[in-house]
Amino acid sequence: MSRILITAALPYANGGLHFGHIAGAYLPADVYARFSRLMKHEVAFICGSDEFGVPITINAERMGQSFQEYVDVYFHEHQKTFRLLSISFDHYSRTTRPGHKKITQEVFLSLLNNGHIEERVVPQLYSEKEGRFLADRYVKGECPHCGYLEARGDECPKCAASYESTELLNPVSKITHSPLQLKDTKHWFLRFDHFKQQLLKWLDQKSWKGNVKNFARFYAENVRARAITRDSTWGVPLPLSNTEGKVFYVWFDAPLGYISMTKEWAEMMGRPELWKDFWLSSETKYVQFIGKDNIPFHAVFFPAMLMGQDLPYKKVDHLPANEFLLLEGKQFSKSDGWFIDLHLFFDRYECDQIRYYLALHAPETQDTEFSWDLFQAACNDDLVGKWGNLANRTLTFLQRHCEGCIPAYRDLMEIDQTFLKDIKQITQEITAHYDSFSLKKAARAVMKLASVGNVYFNEKKPWQEIKQKSNKQDVFNTLYCCLEALKALALVSYPIMPNK
Ligand code: MF3
Ligand code: ZN
Repeated sequence: MSRILITAALPYANGGLHFGHIAGAYLPADVYARFSRLMKHEVAFICGSDEFGVPITINAERMGQSFQEYVDVYFHEHQKTFRLLSISFDHYSRTTRPGHKKITQEVFLSLLNNGHIEERVVPQLYSEKEGRFLADRYVKGECPHCGYLEARGDECPKCAASYESTELLNPVSKITHSPLQLKDTKHWFLRFDHFKQQLLKWLDQKSWKGNVKNFARFYAENVRARAITRDSTWGVPLPLSNTEGKVFYVWFDAPLGYISMTKEWAEMMGRPELWKDFWLSSETKYVQFIGKDNIPFHAVFFPAMLMGQDLPYKKVDHLPANEFLLLEGKQFSKSDGWFIDLHLFFDRYECDQIRYYLALHAPETQDTEFSWDLFQAACNDDLVGKWGNLANRTLTFLQRHCEGCIPAYRDLMEIDQTFLKDIKQITQEITAHYDSFSLKKAARAVMKLASVGNVYFNEKKPWQEIKQKSNKQDVFNTLYCCLEALKALALVSYPIMPNK
């Protein structure tokens, strides 16, 4: 038995979740958590909502809600979605809880004491009218390259140039359209470059998927100091005097949520020291489930933050980052109206159907399309045609000819013994697939087991045998072996289809 810490990317409390998120992080994480519990490991499966950051403030303001009211809505909505999909977190928290502020400030202070933080004064766009500095996303102006009048804060939609918002010509606030001035403001920079060699050496030992590792190495090669603070009132405040109006950048505090939420979980269970067994022990196996857009933060920036601590925080061991699930060629997007309404979906279909589909077509090594035709095929051909068929014919036969009892077996023939061996062997294969986060292969092998069962049933033809009185024991043997297959199927299917 070992101890396994499993986290899934903390979803922004800034919009609904769709199948892209589920396929990318939450389903693979849940499958691995369920599998690990089944294997009797000690598991902590931790997640929660990511509730700070500029985009949340923009949207809340647009909706005329307070920031807290706004994130409350999504905190509850996400939990509802996760319940619909049977995601079995041990704890689901949020970054606006007090314990999170504490750890964020502590981690910052250790970095500061260890010489990894630098104060710098930088010019930023300031709105006199609103009395505040504005982040890129609040700003528009003229493109410094092509002069396009409606250029965004960091990027021109016309010529595709990217730049600092301070380079925009005639910048204005997106909110009030008032003109903006450059004004000096102080920010705290984390010298990620201090960790470059350590990061590269650490990454070298990882046996992650090729694209994950290459992407991570690229970011590690190019690390430089980055501002970890923002001018805002929504975020974790700095633990220093005279820093009013400064908060930590959301990507500084959010990953620390994995730690603060584990701590909170341990406290709620009445074992406040338990978090240390997971976070401060080199024995722990730590697996982070994320989508590919989160790779740099999990593979480089968060590990660097932990490398700068005095406590021996556990760094990620496995990072099975997924590619994107697309809906007919485009990324799912609620704001563009390009999504499948989850509540309507669940009026018609069941959780295990979509879990099976998303496992079978998991975007593990390339972007993958969601397709209704393939969903239909997965339900009808596999779940009903193979799995359901084997269960149905076996149990119906058992009911009819064995009074629903498991028969005793005797004098198995070679075909029976081979079948029992196949069951064992496929079960081991599936175990290995789960162990290496390969949902696709696991789902396929589950169906292979069902198919092998159906082939066996067809070959043994118990419906013919039963008519000859002398062959009754062979029918019992057949049913016994099919029941072994069903038992194995139930167990190996459980991580993917926990309800059925
Ligand atoms: N909120 C981010 C996203 O949805 C993920 C944050 S993961 C964490 O892309 F590590 F920062 F928590
Ligand atoms: Zn331009």
